[in-house]
Amino acid sequence: MNTKEFLTINGTDYVEFYVGNAKQAAHYYQTAFGFQPLAYAGLETGIKDHTSYALRQGKIIFVFTTALTPESPIAEHCKQHGDGVKVIALWVDDARQAWKETTNRGARSYFEPKTIIDEYGEVVMSGIHTYGETVHIFIDRHNYFGPFLPGFKKWEPAYRPAETGLLYVDHIVGNVGWGEMNKWGKFYADVMGFEQLISFDDKDISTEYTALMSKVMANSNMRIKFPINEPAEGKKKSQIEEYLDFYRGSGAQHVAMATDNIVETISQLRARGVEFLHVPDSYYDTVIERVKEIDEDIEVLKKMRILIDRDEDGYLLQLFTKPVEDRPTVFYEIIQRKGAKSFGKGNFKALFEAIELEQGNRGTL
Ligand code: FE2
Repeated sequence: MNTKEFLTINGTDYVEFYVGNAKQAAHYYQTAFGFQPLAYAGLETGIKDHTSYALRQGKIIFVFTTALTPESPIAEHCKQHGDGVKVIALWVDDARQAWKETTNRGARSYFEPKTIIDEYGEVVMSGIHTYGETVHIFIDRHNYFGPFLPGFKKWEPAYRPAETGLLYVDHIVGNVGWGEMNKWGKFYADVMGFEQLISFDDKDISTEYTALMSKVMANSNMRIKFPINEPAEGKKKSQIEEYLDFYRGSGAQHVAMATDNIVETISQLRARGVEFLHVPDSYYDTVIERVKEIDEDIEVLKKMRILIDRDEDGYLLQLFTKPVEDRPTVFYEIIQRKGAKSFGKGNFKALFEAIELEQGNRGTL
């Protein structure tokens, strides 16, 4: 069997965050990002130790989960990491085979394959560990017709702010410890059959003060793209180190969500209180020389502070939020691809300088 064929992944199924207060997190993602209520699990559905809210926008499903007891491992996760990504769930055809093939290749099991049944059908799930305390859960839901997963009931609040045009997860970035990028790149290659798309070293990604290295791993149909970052030595502390300090280890750094109208999406998000990294005026003085002709009006992009980059396949528009919790850890990228398959290398310098400004304000540079 070709290594690419032992694990067929159709896409990201959901991303689950362990948070201090799922009720308030769900409200924030409704209000600020326009996620729509999908499903709920908690005391009212017979669950005693945690509460989960599932929200959807386009193909993106986020789940926010909070412990109801201090003994819960969810509470311990929050104590250690603050609010963060626990589960990157992957939509597969066969969750039993996915578990067998990956654990045979060295993955550490999170849980063995199990079939969960309710009135809406059945879901087969299994799980493996990845970097830090993050896990992948394989989901086979082809015989399931409920709102989300067994145990969840439909969540239908009256409060429903409109969507903001977010369509699907483009990529999810992991930050790993010093010298661990190659280990985790190899994990995705050997255990999951991914290939390396691109790598960046500290010559590509550095400013006067800080540096990092990155390697992008992708599955064969390119629906799953996981860049892996590690800090590199610089004059001052890199944003990756800052993340590792505050997250207390490796974890998911950002989720990139795609839109097909970034100007509209960013203007909606800004109006709803989402905070983005500051892009200086000077960025727009030279950007057109670098990216040449684009469909959008540069003045509109400048007004919305959207970043632009070009590669051999086309160009992309992107922007990054500030961290969405008090620890400077998880943030979001909004991205619109116009042919480009890359990740905005031309923007790294501007981006890192913007992050350094924030780090300076936090006293963590
Ligand atoms: Fe990204």
